[in-house]
Amino acid sequence: KAIYPELFVQFGPGKCFLPKYYSDHSEFIENFEVREDDLWLMSFIKAGTTWTKEMSWLIGNDLDYEGAKENTYVRFPYFEFDATWEVASVSDKLKKEEDLTPNSMQIVQNKESPRFIQTHLPWTLLPKQIRNGEKKPKMIYVARNPKDVCVSFYHHRVLIEGYLGSLDDHVEEFINDVVLYAPYWPHVKAFWERRNEPNVLFLTYEELKQDLSGVIDRTAQFLGRPVSVNEKEKLLAHLSFESMKANPYVNHDEVTDLLTKIHGVPKQSNFIRKGKVGSWKEELSQGKPSVKLKSSVCPLKSAVMISLQKL
Ligand code: A3P
Repeated sequence: KAIYPELFVQFGPGKCFLPKYYSDHSEFIENFEVREDDLWLMSFIKAGTTWTKEMSWLIGNDLDYEGAKENTYVRFPYFEFDATWEVASVSDKLKKEEDLTPNSMQIVQNKESPRFIQTHLPWTLLPKQIRNGEKKPKMIYVARNPKDVCVSFYHHRVLIEGYLGSLDDHVEEFINDVVLYAPYWPHVKAFWERRNEPNVLFLTYEELKQDLSGVIDRTAQFLGRPVSVNEKEKLLAHLSFESMKANPYVNHDEVTDLLTKIHGVPKQSNFIRKGKVGSWKEELSQGKPSVKLKSSVCPLKSAVMISLQKL
């Protein structure tokens, strides 16, 4: 059963790999009205977005743990998320669940300030006002070792998209830039080059793992809301892997349970899954992928071929 959307586009100067539906929104995003007091959280998919979101939302909202009892998608919307992406990527069944998948860009546009906005879009596809420096909102970028991103992404695809390919298939697609938001390196590099700008905070997943306390301090300073020693103790506990995994407002259990049911497969992992640095060593095979891509097991690959032929 082909679950992945049928057609993709490689969009913009960086040829970012996106569902075809993105074209319907690109102009809206390009001309999106940015506010100086927005906080934008940018990342490649699976780089530690949810973790960084929770940390920065709490620091930016005066450690309001009551307020954090609202789904992270509502508090900190996923900017370019659109119902049609998900509907097409899952199945007709989800079409009936329209409430689950609103057009996030409209919601962000109408949100009161200060807005907390999350995006996986690369620098080249961000709203024009950010790229040309007309507006300078605070921006946090979180990066992660691409091998861990790649493995985490594979489990994400199995869980969220009902991906039918093997890990080797996925790796091949990842290194050939035919996975969502690819290519990876220019995505990170664009923010790495801007890491010293005063409105940019560049973090890594590995730093969060190694020294969350230090990262909290840097984020607190960046957001202008110092965190005391006592406050930090509670925040560290809240952001621990175990606590995040058990927190229904960040772990997306409702959505992943529903999707698993739709895919008709046993749930093999959770959104907040392993939470380790270097776990790629346990899963990636040595050398070149041994399995040749077959379009029968890998609907994405055939979809890509069709879309590229049509461009
Ligand atoms: P793994 O799949 O390697 O476990 P994103 O939010 O960008 O989709 O990233 C998800 C990754 O961040 C997953 O990685 C997830 O387990 C990890 N993660 C989320 N919260 C975490 C936490 N509190 N501590 C460590 N890792 C966390």
